[in-house]
Amino acid sequence: MQIILLFLMILLVFALLRSWVTSRAMGGIPGSMGWPIIGESLSFISEFSSPHGIYNFMKKRQLRYGKVFKSSILGRSTVFMTGTEASKILLSGKDGMVSLNLFYAGKQLMGPTSLLQTTGEAHKQLRRLIAEPLSIDSMKKYLQFINNLAIDTLDQWTGRKAIYVHDEVSTFTLKVISNILMSLEPCGEEQEQFRANFKLISAAFASLPLCIPGTCFYRGIKARDRIYSLLDGIITQRKEGSNIQLDFLQSLIKKHSKETATENGEDKLTDTQLKDNILTLLIAGHDTTTAALTWLIKFLEENPTILGKLREEHIKIQEGRNGSSTLSWPEVSKMTYTSKVINETLRKATILPWYSRKAAQDFEINGYKIKKGWSLNLDVVSIHHDQKLFPDSQKFDPSRFDEPLPPYNFLGFGSGQRMCPGNNLAKLEISVFIHHLVCKYRWRHLERDDSVQATLVRMPKNKYPIIVEKL
Ligand code: HEM
Ligand SMILES: *[C@@H]1O[C@H](CO)[C@@H](O)[C@H](O)[C@H]1NC(C)=O
Ligand SMILES: *[C@@H]1O[C@H](CO)[C@@H](O)[C@H](O)[C@H]1NC(C)=O
Repeated sequence: MQIILLFLMILLVFALLRSWVTSRAMGGIPGSMGWPIIGESLSFISEFSSPHGIYNFMKKRQLRYGKVFKSSILGRSTVFMTGTEASKILLSGKDGMVSLNLFYAGKQLMGPTSLLQTTGEAHKQLRRLIAEPLSIDSMKKYLQFINNLAIDTLDQWTGRKAIYVHDEVSTFTLKVISNILMSLEPCGEEQEQFRANFKLISAAFASLPLCIPGTCFYRGIKARDRIYSLLDGIITQRKEGSNIQLDFLQSLIKKHSKETATENGEDKLTDTQLKDNILTLLIAGHDTTTAALTWLIKFLEENPTILGKLREEHIKIQEGRNGSSTLSWPEVSKMTYTSKVINETLRKATILPWYSRKAAQDFEINGYKIKKGWSLNLDVVSIHHDQKLFPDSQKFDPSRFDEPLPPYNFLGFGSGQRMCPGNNLAKLEISVFIHHLVCKYRWRHLERDDSVQATLVRMPKNKYPIIVEKL
């Protein structure tokens, strides 16, 4: 135990020393590093869980220092930037100016060959492989599965005292993504075990990365190992040609197997790459979609006129259908108002409030010199709530998307090389679920609380409890 403590102390001293050295180097950038060690973490965390999130934290400092300022948060010296110019530089990342910046825990959990840990050419190539089976065209074959699961899930929402929307939606989206990626059955022992393991991994993400038995991080690593052995089993079966499925995993195995891969084998993924990236998609895709759908249902209830208009679109689609037939692909592509409602949800909620990068070389922005290796964050909240771009920005108003917006104003799915490759899947899940919800049900909240959970992905803290009735 003493050795471990000593080791921890040494680690801490190194971390502080490094952060002190960078913060001194950041001398040219305006801003305050707050208290020693804790920096400005306390005010940051307390603002995070307020309904407006870090908006006020950012606003205060932007008024004082401008669009580029430094701070010290959660043990890291970092530069926050906002505005169109910063978005362009940080997201389009021309000439390898920046790379993604993950927390240590995330790096350890997701594995070295994850899309999130690759840069430059290797990132481009891996992304090409991954994006193809997540394209709009590839989504068609999943429509019926998502449709049936949405109907079944909503069937169980009536006649109960309280529905915690966040929990229910979380179960739904995990069943969808685990089926699409690797054909996991939505019910039964395997799904339950998978769900339990996945929860441990998610929790470990925001934990202190101490790999000693008993810690949250340690349990996460162990759960990750269990999911990897589940995947090992599935990959072996697929390679032997038994239990072939039409899922994401299969499309990567088939397309890039020895027979079809190019001569030098550059299009072929190793088993480690397959596992690291399936886990990456699960982690990047699950909480985000869950939060988006939960906020959307909440915003609809708070805005009855918009709910009415959305319902009109969906009832019309339903009436255009012949009796028994179910939701079809052409019908999903007709949901234009729904797309605006989804975009407006992502703007207002800004589920990922900032995007993290690391400077891969020296460059200049707003006259300030940024040095290679610095941690940089694009403050997206301030862009999504800029009164000039989005007047009356607290208002939920999908008509903001009636006209196409200039680039870099709306960043719900990001932009540039790292723009979300899962956006088609997320939009499909949300649209199908909403279709059945607004066509058949009405709901009202059981508790008024606008605070936000203090995790990386913004979610309603009270999990949005509602009561549901058939229309
Ligand atoms: C409504 C739901 C979602 C939202 C709001 C969302 C948002 C985002 C954003 C903003 C980024 C870019 C972050 C940055 O630039 O630093 C991103 C990247 C990413 N998303 Fe999503 N996402 C959603 C759903 C999904 C789904 C369903 C998947 C998987 C199937 C997914 C997989 C990824 C991956 C792998 C990346 C990293 C891309 C790269 O580094 O090249 N996301 N997402
Ligand atoms: C519904 O049925 C009518 C007549 O039976 C047919 O003309 C129409 O194309 C059908 N619509 C769809 C969407 O299948
Ligand atoms: C929603 O936002 C995306 C950008 O992420 C944009 O391409 C799309 O056109 C928007 N949809 C609508 C209906 O405005």
